[in-house]
Amino acid sequence: MALKIFRTKHVQSFDDGETSLHRCLSAWDLTFLGIGAIIGTGIFVLTGIAASTQAGPAVILSFVIAGTACVFAALSYAELSSAIGGCGSAYGYTYAAFGEMFAFIIGWNLLLEYGISVAAVANGWSGYFCNALIAIDLPLPDVLTKAPKMGGIINLPASIIILLLMLLLIIGVKQSAKANNAMVCVKLITIAIFIGVAAFNVNTDHWHPFMPFGWFETLPNGKTTGVLAGASLVFFAYVGFDAVSTAAEEAQNPQHDLPFGIITSLAFCTVTYIIVAGLLTGVVPYTELNVSSPVAHALNLLGFSWASALISTGVIAGLTTVMLVLYYGLTRIIFAMSRDGLLSAFFSKINANTQTPVRVIVICGVIMSLIAGLMPLGDLAELVNIGTLSAFAFVCLGVIILRITQPEMPRPFKSPFSPLFPVLGMLSCSGLMFFLPALTWLRFLMWMFIGLIVYFTYSINNSNLETDK
Ligand code: ALA
Repeated sequence: MALKIFRTKHVQSFDDGETSLHRCLSAWDLTFLGIGAIIGTGIFVLTGIAASTQAGPAVILSFVIAGTACVFAALSYAELSSAIGGCGSAYGYTYAAFGEMFAFIIGWNLLLEYGISVAAVANGWSGYFCNALIAIDLPLPDVLTKAPKMGGIINLPASIIILLLMLLLIIGVKQSAKANNAMVCVKLITIAIFIGVAAFNVNTDHWHPFMPFGWFETLPNGKTTGVLAGASLVFFAYVGFDAVSTAAEEAQNPQHDLPFGIITSLAFCTVTYIIVAGLLTGVVPYTELNVSSPVAHALNLLGFSWASALISTGVIAGLTTVMLVLYYGLTRIIFAMSRDGLLSAFFSKINANTQTPVRVIVICGVIMSLIAGLMPLGDLAELVNIGTLSAFAFVCLGVIILRITQPEMPRPFKSPFSPLFPVLGMLSCSGLMFFLPALTWLRFLMWMFIGLIVYFTYSINNSNLETDK
């Protein structure tokens, strides 16, 4: 048994063979793919929640801290994505570096990351959608726009948008690079409008006090507050740069283009987030930002209702693609795990009529739709973050382990200052996990526990490494 859980899959280098997929994505396509998956609910909604309840104007520092942890992790991702073939992302790297059981756990955590992210982004989408309905005098009853914990019955728009995306994926709508690039432009224009308007309306008084909640504190209700707690929440805004690595088999020159795409998209988003967070807390008092569409709300308060309406439209369109990319990524990871025998082959069955994995799309869609309707955004984002941070920490550790166990493996891109940077990546990602609330930890540990039961009762005996012997 001990040997089984550590068995590793052959590290497949890019020279091992041709991919069956079409290598059509350039370095800039990959960068746009990254920006498309990264910019979403994190910046458009969570900035407001984090500023008003956890960090105040110092939410800027929260973004700097979370962004720094991501840069270290991204350098490790870049190294492994340039050296190891396959589209399995952290799951594939862990399989090569640590063996099967850890790969399963990371794959299982990625399911949490992608699945709950879709539900969380749907919540952000719903906030702006409801705002738009109010603007055209067609408001939904309040109880149909909020999760039970927030005083409603269900967040209906969040549930419905996921079911609509489910139908789209079933009939085979593919995320084409062109369509994605167009949507990224819409998002960037949206942000540019905000920056353009907000930059001329900053009142520096709003930045005082700068750090009203201090660095870190656990409140009697178990919630955490302070700049560091804010960092572990707004970390959600960076989730998605790892999606670039799932396009490894479609990149024209993966060894160069993947590191470029990962690092450029992350660097761009980090700078953008810091500017937007600074402006948002500079144009209105941070206490005003605990609403479901804070960027639009701030512009409304300033009297720019035209800009607010434009931004709402841009955000609604932009968040739809984030959900599509993440939903698609989720089905890919389930696919990869199912193909390796770690999850049932039931999940990798392709429907003959639609040529899409209908079963997995429907099962995921229904579950995510229920979760999106019934859990509030903050809880969802924290759950995503804890799963993602654990995967990032493993990827950083994987760089160190593979440098020792496979020193000869060609590494077209090397994380600089190794092992210092990968170690800093591990420490900063684990550190951010520490600042998440106890309830999030409990949910996460429950998820891991269920995963281990699945692994030891099913996967260990059905793994291809077992059955192909
Ligand atoms: N980073 C993505 C977002 O903020 C998941 O929506």
